[in-house]
Amino acid sequence: MAKVTTKYVCQQCGYETASWMGKCPNCQAWGSLVETIVSSKIEEKGRYGEEAGAKPMRLSQIPAENLKRITTGISEFDRVLGGPSRLRLNSAECPGSGQAGIVPGSVTLLAGDPGIGKSTLLLQMVDKTGGFYISGEESVGQLKLRAQRVGVKNENLCFLAETNVENILLALSQAKDIRVAVIDSIQTLYTEDLTGTPGSVGQVRECARKLLHFAKKDKIPMFLVGHVTKEGAIAGPMVLEHLVDTVLFMEGERYQTLRILRSFKNRFGPTDEVGLFRMEEGGMKEVMDPQDLFTSSTKNTPGSVAVVAMEGTRPILVEVQSLVVPTKLPYPRRIGRGIDYNRLLVLVAVIEKTLRLPLGGFDVYVNVVGGIKISEPAADLGIALSLTSSFKNKPLPPKTAAIGELGLLGEIRKVANLEKRIKEAKRLGFTNILSPENFSSLPQVVAKV
Ligand code: TYD
Ligand code: MG
Repeated sequence: MAKVTTKYVCQQCGYETASWMGKCPNCQAWGSLVETIVSSKIEEKGRYGEEAGAKPMRLSQIPAENLKRITTGISEFDRVLGGPSRLRLNSAECPGSGQAGIVPGSVTLLAGDPGIGKSTLLLQMVDKTGGFYISGEESVGQLKLRAQRVGVKNENLCFLAETNVENILLALSQAKDIRVAVIDSIQTLYTEDLTGTPGSVGQVRECARKLLHFAKKDKIPMFLVGHVTKEGAIAGPMVLEHLVDTVLFMEGERYQTLRILRSFKNRFGPTDEVGLFRMEEGGMKEVMDPQDLFTSSTKNTPGSVAVVAMEGTRPILVEVQSLVVPTKLPYPRRIGRGIDYNRLLVLVAVIEKTLRLPLGGFDVYVNVVGGIKISEPAADLGIALSLTSSFKNKPLPPKTAAIGELGLLGEIRKVANLEKRIKEAKRLGFTNILSPENFSSLPQVVAKV
């Protein structure tokens, strides 16, 4: 096949050159030149399955698209992909829209660190939906082993170990009745049109564009796996962000079982939902009621406080643990896991000032149970109480949960979704709820508990 003409374009300033250079001669940026196909008329015409020179249409002339979503069979996954309840679609106008899940023809990028569980989750999904699993990373033998491990039941799943995008498209176009296609991963694919190595920005983008074109034309939903590399953006999935319909991130700590699926961009749904999973022996298991995951069995120990954090639209009860011990260092340690470090410093300062506790002579360690990160200010009150409880070596009263943001002067501020959080805490049996509804300042709460 003849190579198409390419040029190298600087991603910083748009400078074009015919050959690759390490440094852009125009803006002096290093490593910013990316191989790009010089688009021909034929290329343009086929783009996204539209005819070149499409006619403008009035809104009323456009037929309502049948957004019949396909369920992934995994409700936490569907929740992240989004559903009609949030889109507020009229079900009479859009038949079949009552289902959350994958939109036909949509292209979703699933990004995450290597080894976090992307392949496992997508394999479990195609087991339920049926479809094509294309792997550029593993042989079919390895795929079979993984399929056995996670207990794949669908005998008709199609596997293909291939890295050439033209061959993949050929296989896909010959296959009949594909419900979903998974490409694992986009960094391993290459197109014959470009000379760059697989994983280079040019290859990643061009392969994705070809797959996208196919997905839109044949209305086949596609999932692209993208590894996030330590080095950051270089050839990472971020170059695809604007191309694809949906960008999902899977995160979690390597040595803990919790995995959180977040959506960063979603053309067909909300981006404030998260899916919770646990990586177990037999694959990813959904966490429907995250209760046990984020609380430890140590009840009523000094330093332990329950806070209600929001993950997406869901309130989740999380335990914060603190350890405040006399320091032997000239600069006392402040170490926080699962919370923002700077926030911890502010809270320590607020406690020192408003409660007159000499924390300057103490090391402070704070941990959030279960590997979850709480970045919202609603956890402030809980963290502060956990610190004072450890300092005084006095546990909080039983069945206590804390919700509230702390101001610099020690005042307790209202937080978003307060009612929702209180309701969830009550549902889980917490009777003593400390919140801006019944307290206005930190000293007031501390005097009470
Ligand atoms: P994987 O899905 O291959 O990650 P990714 O595709 O994101 O690179 O998951 C790899 C890790 O998951 C590996 O360290 C082993 C673990 N794992 C389980 O704990 N249980 C399982 O059933 C499977 C398949 C993997
Ligand atoms: Mg993988």
